Amino acid sequence: MELQGMHFKEYKTPQEIDTLVGQVAGQINHDYQGLKPVFVVVLTGAFMYASDLLRKMTMPTEVAFVKLRSYVGTETTGEVQETVPVTADIMDRDVIVIEDIIDTGLSMRYLKKRLYQLGAKTVRVTSFLFKPDALQYPESAPEYPALLIPHQFVIGYGLDLDQQARNLPSLYIYDKSKVESVIVR
Ligand code: IMP
Ligand code: MG
Repeated sequence: MELQGMHFKEYKTPQEIDTLVGQVAGQINHDYQGLKPVFVVVLTGAFMYASDLLRKMTMPTEVAFVKLRSYVGTETTGEVQETVPVTADIMDRDVIVIEDIIDTGLSMRYLKKRLYQLGAKTVRVTSFLFKPDALQYPESAPEYPALLIPHQFVIGYGLDLDQQARNLPSLYIYDKSKVESVIVR
């Protein structure tokens, strides 16, 4: 698959993704039995994972959204802005954040602080993907990652390259070998 001159190869099929999401759903259903958590979905990338995960939840659930924008300078510390504030009252609530990917962890560090500021009783994070080798803020490691991946760029299943490819039902990973073969040649 090619997008903007970059080659990507299929990394997880829809069937494999469904199995991974099912495993996380099982853990959350077990841990939150008898509770009424509010799920905060981080827009835009998490929309597809959230849709699949929430359909597998067996406890009473509430769904809210938040939209973040992170500015990361080359050398400077990144800054995070809430472009859509949390769309629910989360005072004294058990919050489960649904994210597409934890990369440096900058966005999640901001969001967890913000949710506690808003009065959340507990905050845990499920992220479809987690790049442990890219993590710069250990407090942002997700409690419920569906899949750990290497420090490489991925698209599809909600994740974008310049707003493209979010709709693809498979997950694709940047194919370095294609680039190297071009350079070697
Ligand atoms: P952070 O560095 O953990 O704050 O991640 C910031 C955001 O970068 C994520 O929420 C994603 O939207 C985006 N991002 C990080 N890695 C990837 C990737 O491999 N593909 C697509 N988006 C990514
Ligand atoms: Mg994101």
